[in-house]
Amino acid sequence: MTALIDPFGRSIEYIRLSVTDRCDLRCSYCLPKGFKNFEEPDHWLDFDEIERIIGAFGRLGVKRVRLTGGEPLVRKRLPALASRIAGLPGIEDLSLSTNATRLEKCAVDLRAAGISRINVSLDTLRADRFKQITQGKLDKVLAGLMSAKAAELSPIKINMVVMAGINDDEVEDMVTFCLQHNFTLRFIETMTMGNTGRSAGEHYVDLQTVRQRLAKRFDLLPGVMPGGGPARYVQVAGTDLKIGFITPISQHFCESCNRVRLSVDGTLYLCLGQEDKVELRPLLRRGADDTELEQAIVSAIAKKPERHEFREKPEQVVRFMSLTGG
Ligand SMILES: C[S@@+](CC[C@H](N)C(=O)[O-])C[C@H]1O[C@@H](n2cnc3c(N)ncnc32)[C@H](O)[C@@H]1O
Ligand code: SF4
Repeated sequence: MTALIDPFGRSIEYIRLSVTDRCDLRCSYCLPKGFKNFEEPDHWLDFDEIERIIGAFGRLGVKRVRLTGGEPLVRKRLPALASRIAGLPGIEDLSLSTNATRLEKCAVDLRAAGISRINVSLDTLRADRFKQITQGKLDKVLAGLMSAKAAELSPIKINMVVMAGINDDEVEDMVTFCLQHNFTLRFIETMTMGNTGRSAGEHYVDLQTVRQRLAKRFDLLPGVMPGGGPARYVQVAGTDLKIGFITPISQHFCESCNRVRLSVDGTLYLCLGQEDKVELRPLLRRGADDTELEQAIVSAIAKKPERHEFREKPEQVVRFMSLTGG
């Protein structure tokens, strides 16, 4: 049982750890082209500091950890960090969110380090569009995905941010691709984060319309996999394919929020869509002991806001998604 219950009665049992705010891609809705204003290396938590913080969360009842970024595979020796986190008391589930550009070479190491399942961002199956959306190369991502499959990472979930006039004509193709490879598919509504998110808001698609469109071509069975996360799932009848809809804008899911986020500089963010935060790095660097660290985490959870306001106050969140890792 978690010791972390927020003021709205929600148990916090999941932490998303951004191991770097850097990324080798520049997805249009996440990071502006040419963006260079990254956290300075002196401020990065080192592996010992990360282990201390996640260890404290483990003792307080957090069971699940997701490594994210920026692009987590840009951080050197990530498999070594993963294996340290996987070995911490209380941590039962370790996963990774990645753009997969660097996955081809390290999928086996990540699996051996204790990462059992991954989420991969993939908004298009067309190389020219991929370049346009991310500034990167699609073939590297596809090679990474195939290595992950060969390394038996499972499930592999594809995250597609659906954008009007950019990739919304590919939702059926993505269903076919995931059916072919036995991947799970999740569609995501664009959130307005940082300046870049605001311009992305122009391409917002209500996923209800995507679901209606897919229902014309595929027989969708509702209500599978309630899970602990924000996606609402359907299954394509007669197949194993599950399709999730993550709808922070059209239908928020804050009442069941079970998570907090730690950025690479040791800031604990209490909500993806609000600025409430507590800085843990100064505490560590002045020599706080484990009890003090645990107390700081418990007091932070008492400040968790009730919900995000992406829809009502789209101008509110000024940090980029790459800082907190989605
Ligand atoms: C910030 S990325 C970090 C991990 C990794 N680089 C990746 O792309 O999977 C995590 C997720 O956030 C999503 N994301 C980023 N900016 C977003 C936005 N403005 N709205 C909705 N989803 C966003 C990405 O599509 C991705 O699935
Ligand atoms: S969504 Fe992921 S891959 Fe794309 S720019 Fe953001 S951090 Fe990088």
